[in-house]
Amino acid sequence: MSKRDTLNVLLLGGGAREHAIAWRASRSPRLKKLWILPGNAGTAQLGTNVPGDPADVKFVVDVARREAIDLVIVGPEEPLAAGVVDALTQAGILAFGPKADGARLEADKSYAKHLMRQHAIPTAESRIFDDYENALEYISSRDEALVVKASGLAKGKGVIVCEDPAQAILAAENMLLKQEFGEAGRRIVVEERLNGREVSLMAFVDGRTIYVLDPAQDHKRLRDGDLGPNTGGMGAFCPTSTISPAIMRNIETQILVPTLDALVRDEIEYRGLLYVGLMLTPAGPKVLEFNCRFGDPEAQAILMRMKSDLLDVCEATARGRLEQANIEWDERHSVVVVLAGGDYPNKSSVGAPIDGLPDLAGRDDLFVFHGGTKLERGRVVTNGGRVLSTAALAPTREAARDAAYQLAGRIRFEGMQYRRDIAM
Ligand code: AMP
Ligand code: GLY
Repeated sequence: MSKRDTLNVLLLGGGAREHAIAWRASRSPRLKKLWILPGNAGTAQLGTNVPGDPADVKFVVDVARREAIDLVIVGPEEPLAAGVVDALTQAGILAFGPKADGARLEADKSYAKHLMRQHAIPTAESRIFDDYENALEYISSRDEALVVKASGLAKGKGVIVCEDPAQAILAAENMLLKQEFGEAGRRIVVEERLNGREVSLMAFVDGRTIYVLDPAQDHKRLRDGDLGPNTGGMGAFCPTSTISPAIMRNIETQILVPTLDALVRDEIEYRGLLYVGLMLTPAGPKVLEFNCRFGDPEAQAILMRMKSDLLDVCEATARGRLEQANIEWDERHSVVVVLAGGDYPNKSSVGAPIDGLPDLAGRDDLFVFHGGTKLERGRVVTNGGRVLSTAALAPTREAARDAAYQLAGRIRFEGMQYRRDIAM
């Protein structure tokens, strides 16, 4: 396919991350037509939303065939874990994202731990249990702080950072006996609790080449001052200044390169985005988790700064030709503020009218990304937990923060809540 070829693109997912991907894709001169499955009220302005479940592999392949799709971009993890890229590849359709074997890095934490142990990739010491009695015996024998994790996909809620063994026992009981996390918690990882500063790194990976993106930082807790429950992420900024060049080199040589080597040795061709959650411990950086896709809201912060053609980059990654891609970034800082419903993260907000959405046509430095929204009789209403994210790009982080908050201040819906200290 030559540079000038245009592409029909199908994007899977319906959050703010996907609105950001759709926005970048829609700026590509190579875009012929864009479909989003299922999308939201924001993506509906950039392409055609297709209702349905993006993890329904057969349905996705049918839609891709019907619309003569040239490239599928997968936003969330569930379709990847369900094997959507395997099925698309088999159907001869190019897709951005790892196949199910690569997605196990995120979808099966016990597998990720195994891979890291086998290849001496620094991570927390851990044990894996399917059986409550064995977990109980092990946890009771420890006196340090532990973290208990559901091994499977649990929408970011399956990690319990425990203060003491009693809490860890309760977490193991909830997962293994009470099956609070369903299938995802039938196997658990019990690991040492690490201390340090947390950072995330994302990289495009095409099976051989790793292209590391500027670090973005997420704010996981619901309330200001990092208080309240864990969420999918309440805001983000990029770049961060928390990783020195020396630590960055350490992460590349001790973690990223060995992880790709490990995948290659396991005969897994990983093509897509690899997200590594890290703790900068006194003993060096250690892996907390892998995700097999862009973070949300980190994607919004990163894509605000992308100057190159996202479709070129996704296509090159999917074809295993990342070294030929020319990726350019805006030097400015980006800040993203998530506007969530009043009951987030416990419950979604549904059907509340959203007022004050600004018209930002022609601006490349301000954007309101839709997450949980839909159109109802021509009006934009809430339809999810993280409803919108406001994003700004400016020469300094402070200016970007001010602009993102100014945008947030114009928007209203019932119960709207957001943190006031993003990027502080
Ligand atoms: P994960 O989904 O595995 O990244 O876990 C969610 C959050 O739990 C992380 O962002 C960390 O804040 C925390 N966490 C996970 N594993 C550990 C660990 N071994 N020690 C301390 N905190 C952890
Ligand atoms: N913001 C973290 C994630 O997307 O998993």
